[in-house]
Amino acid sequence: MEEKKEKYWSRFPDTYDENQGYVVGKELLGDISEKLNDLSTLGEVVEFGCGTGYFSEIISQKANRMISTDLSDELLDKAKARLGDDSRITIQRENCIETSFSSDSFDAVLMANLIHVIEDPVKALQESHRILKVGGVLIIVTFTSYGLGFFDAIRLSSRYLRSWGRPPRHMHRFSPESLASLVESAGFSINESVLLGSRTKAIFIVGQKKQL
Ligand SMILES: C[S@@+](CC[C@H](N)C(=O)[O-])C[C@H]1O[C@@H](n2cnc3c(N)ncnc32)[C@H](O)[C@@H]1O
Repeated sequence: MEEKKEKYWSRFPDTYDENQGYVVGKELLGDISEKLNDLSTLGEVVEFGCGTGYFSEIISQKANRMISTDLSDELLDKAKARLGDDSRITIQRENCIETSFSSDSFDAVLMANLIHVIEDPVKALQESHRILKVGGVLIIVTFTSYGLGFFDAIRLSSRYLRSWGRPPRHMHRFSPESLASLVESAGFSINESVLLGSRTKAIFIVGQKKQL
């Protein structure tokens, strides 16, 4: 079978970080960074959909070792330029719905701004569950228009269109409740589920792999 290529996000290796700041705002990125900084030590961490490594840099401070992964070669090159000097971090290409990792092998999985843009979020949750040890944590951050007022939602769409054009075909609009329920149905208990931000919003969820 032909190997799947990431085409949508691969168009923006040089402008991704700047545009993300413009679309969702520096304040919300700051709120997310604060939540990640508040987490306790995480052990062996894998990140799915790391992009340019913006959030990898933050979460790596909590990790003993970390593998940052993405499907886009162009964005992985940017992540290498950002994180390549840190010997605790490995950067490699993986499809988050079917990775090369062994079962029960990580203490934490991070998905930042990934689950709402992929076609099959359930498969990514199931893959996270497979590779996590029992008791391991799944940390999800995901932008959403849920909870925005009418005009803020319009402004968000217009900044998005100006930066990146039409959204990917499979864009999901989660609420904290709908995403938490999907995470639960993949075999996790929910430790935390909150909606961050005011003029732009992100859902922050921490799930824990349950003992069977
Ligand atoms: C919206 S960007 C978020 C990037 C980064 N996490 C951040 O927040 O700055 C979505 C990322 O998911 C990656 N991606 C999309 N589908 C993927 C898949 N099936 N497996 C792994 N990564 C994927 C894209 O290449 C892109 O880097």
